[in-house]
Amino acid sequence: MQELVDTLARQRSLGDEGLRALLESPDGETVQELHAQARAVAEERFGKKVYLRALIEWSNVCRNDCLYCGIRKSNRSVHRYTLTRGEILSACEKAWTQGLRTFVLQGGENPPAALELAGTVAEIRASWPEAAITLSLGELPYDTYRLLKDSGADRYLLRHETASPEHYARLHPAGMRLESRIRCIRDLKALGFQTGVGMMVGSPFQTPEDLIRDIRFIESVRPQMVGIGPFIPAKDTPFADQPAGSADMTLRLYSILRLMFPNLLIPSTTALSTLLEGGRQAGILAGANVIMPSFTPASRRADYALYEGKSHEELPIIEQELTAIGYGINRNRGDYSEN
Ligand code: 5AD
Repeated sequence: MQELVDTLARQRSLGDEGLRALLESPDGETVQELHAQARAVAEERFGKKVYLRALIEWSNVCRNDCLYCGIRKSNRSVHRYTLTRGEILSACEKAWTQGLRTFVLQGGENPPAALELAGTVAEIRASWPEAAITLSLGELPYDTYRLLKDSGADRYLLRHETASPEHYARLHPAGMRLESRIRCIRDLKALGFQTGVGMMVGSPFQTPEDLIRDIRFIESVRPQMVGIGPFIPAKDTPFADQPAGSADMTLRLYSILRLMFPNLLIPSTTALSTLLEGGRQAGILAGANVIMPSFTPASRRADYALYEGKSHEELPIIEQELTAIGYGINRNRGDYSEN
């Protein structure tokens, strides 16, 4: 079993059978070896240092109705908000002062509002020329992506959620198509965004084959970032009573991807730390190299509930957690780099 880990590390890929064996192995030593080798690759590439991203959840208004998501359009119990330009700029100011050099504006899919946000992106760009700006605003027209890029955005996160069209159709309402998600991802890459994809682990109806398809998809797209977290049921959604995904499987995927793509930016996600006590640290020790502390105004955090119990990372706690495992913070922008 452990030879599989060596082969993966050496070839930077593995056949479907091997991947499946690593994802499902009941052998604790193999899993520890997988994490150890992934951690070594991350350390060689990044040192024992983690990049930080200031997560600013700018709006929970969304036109989509994803069956898993707490802020889906038909969830009437959500109190909808959109941060003002002033609120966004003060969140950036706070993050900058605390030493963060990437601002992430994330929100529900709302094309007209995203178009308007371009002005604020330009202001952020002018006020903090040395900061990276990441957007995560869902599927938008090519021209809007281009405007946002021209306004100064550097990176864009658009998780594909699952690379299997049949599985995608069971997680989303009719009318949402994996094809259009993939077209957006290609648009973003073509426009020169550092692009992130990603999926949930253990979402309803997911099979091991689906996860292997996700890995093949990532191999074909070659994104700069991959965000992966366990599915966590959200109340007032069709999947409210479904079981959560597996933290262990999430950690294995971080390690597999680290061994396949040594330079990849892999966040230790909020969903993982929500599900697993100490999950943020476990993610780093499995090969992740990014953490996204929340700079959403405290009064809005409860309204951005994508799932149950969603935690919001605060910087001092994150620093303590990293120190405890012998890691520290890299205060550079943390752009993707091939070398
Ligand atoms: N559990 C885990 N992750 C979720 N997301 C949305 N809803 C859930 C959930 N119930 C993730 C999706 C989305 C990202 C912003 O949050 O992957 O892309």
